[in-house]
Amino acid sequence: MPLIAPSLLSADFLNLGRDCKMVDESEADYFHLDIMDGRFVPNISYGMSIIKQMRKTTKKFFDVHLMILEPEKYAEEFKKAGADGLTVHLEACVHLHRNLQQIHALGMRTGVAINPHTPVELLKDILHDIDLVCLMSVNPGFGGQSFIPHSLQKIKELKSLITSQNANTLIEVDGGVNVDNAASIVAAGADVLVAGNAVFSSPDPAATISRLKRL
Ligand code: DX5
Ligand code: ZN
Repeated sequence: MPLIAPSLLSADFLNLGRDCKMVDESEADYFHLDIMDGRFVPNISYGMSIIKQMRKTTKKFFDVHLMILEPEKYAEEFKKAGADGLTVHLEACVHLHRNLQQIHALGMRTGVAINPHTPVELLKDILHDIDLVCLMSVNPGFGGQSFIPHSLQKIKELKSLITSQNANTLIEVDGGVNVDNAASIVAAGADVLVAGNAVFSSPDPAATISRLKRL
């Protein structure tokens, strides 16, 4: 059964308390929180102050996905705000190993996200320092995009890389996941499904979370 991580990017920000409560009371495993800086990605989302407020309302795991340059400048702030896991982009980190050491030293779970064009082989020499790989199945920056079909192949390749190294790394798939394609994504080897639009645009978001978990 996959872990489900609803992306709050698609929540109703004027009813954020209501949407957080829904996720908290649902079968979701993580809150997936997308942070964008308008530099690494062509969009700006929200920051630590929102996470801090949300932290008071739930004990569930905060899976923070940083789509920002120079993530090392903010890692400590995100920890203080309540992040449990911090995912940085391979493409944004010149010294990825150092970034991951920092995240572990702050007591958080490490995550590395890779863009659709980035080969999974680039993770070969760093896999044992990564608790979760966030495999982007859309170009980061926006919710509601379509799943890039080639991602399925990448999930399989990543799964065999993890198995061959006997690593404990989780595979998270982020972008365009919905009730129609989730089963094939899990069959390919995904452990965690991020879903924004599919959850928050559905008539019954909590029921959609349960469906994704059971597909
Ligand atoms: C995109 C974000 C995703 C996004 C997913 O840059 O990383 O987490 O919110 O949204 P959907 O599920 O709508 O593609
Ligand atoms: Zn994300």
